Amino acid sequence: MTSLDGQVALVTGSSRGIGAAIATLFAQHGARVVIHGRDVDALAAVGARIASTGAEVFSTTADLTEHGQVEAMRLAIEEHVGPVDILVANAGGSPVPPSPIEDITEADWRLSIDTNLTATFLTVKTFLPGMKNRGRGSIITMSSAAARRPNAGSPVGYAAAKAAIELLTKDVAAQAGPFGIRANCLSPETIMTEGNQRQIPERIQLSLIDSHPIRRLGTPEDVAAAALFLAADTAAWISGIVLDIAGGSVLV
Ligand SMILES: NC(=O)c1ccc[n+]([C@@H]2O[C@H](COP(=O)([O-])OP(=O)(O)OC[C@H]3O[C@@H](n4cnc5c(N)ncnc54)[C@H](OP(=O)(O)O)[C@@H]3O)[C@@H](O)[C@H]2O)c1
Repeated sequence: MTSLDGQVALVTGSSRGIGAAIATLFAQHGARVVIHGRDVDALAAVGARIASTGAEVFSTTADLTEHGQVEAMRLAIEEHVGPVDILVANAGGSPVPPSPIEDITEADWRLSIDTNLTATFLTVKTFLPGMKNRGRGSIITMSSAAARRPNAGSPVGYAAAKAAIELLTKDVAAQAGPFGIRANCLSPETIMTEGNQRQIPERIQLSLIDSHPIRRLGTPEDVAAAALFLAADTAAWISGIVLDIAGGSVLV
């Protein structure tokens, strides 16, 4: 079994959705998991589920678009749990609906960029120096199939931010590799999180299935399995990649 025994793993945006699934799987594989979000009730529910399995779990909150809050989170984790060995910079999302470029407000553009690219940048920037000092670390970032090509269903600010996260990740891999640190990026297609279950009408879910050679939509657990593979030493020679988790849909 893949082992993360004793390693401290921070999964940002794990109060729900994909992040919660990653944190749960990492805990099952022996990691000392730090869950994160802004919604304390949702965090408490995820924390209780993980703790009920006997695993160790620590909970932290921060708005990742504020560097001061990210730094305070790092200090709290290091004081209560220890230095982070595995960082999954998963937090993000698509906070504005798709629209023609000329109709996107400056505020909405900045919100898409900050929620995804700036939050990922500030998270990596904050945890990287400690990893470099310790000479080890595994970083996983979160892109999206939206970054692959223009798509009327994906807000361009979100897609552009995710494409930039892919490049940022490759840069981290190049800069930090000599310090014993790996950086990789996951790129999921539509994943049936609680949020998407609610938001995507059943009729659309059925039509989306047809665009996947593997005839189903993805689950948070599909993404978690890929995160576990990349986080663990089994992927010791893998760095700087963007891994599609898409049921083959990027081919079509
Ligand atoms: N679901 C999909 O189909 C899909 C596909 C491709 C890529 N992705 C990417 O995968 C990641 C997870 O997606 P998901 O669907 O699981 O999202 P989700 O269910 O909406 O959860 C998003 C998580 O990110 C946190 N978050 C968002 N903005 C934040 C901020 N400024 N500061 C701190 N925390 C913040 C949320 O915290 P709170 O709610 O506690 O505030 C929550 O824990 C995202 O990066 C998303 O873009 C998702």
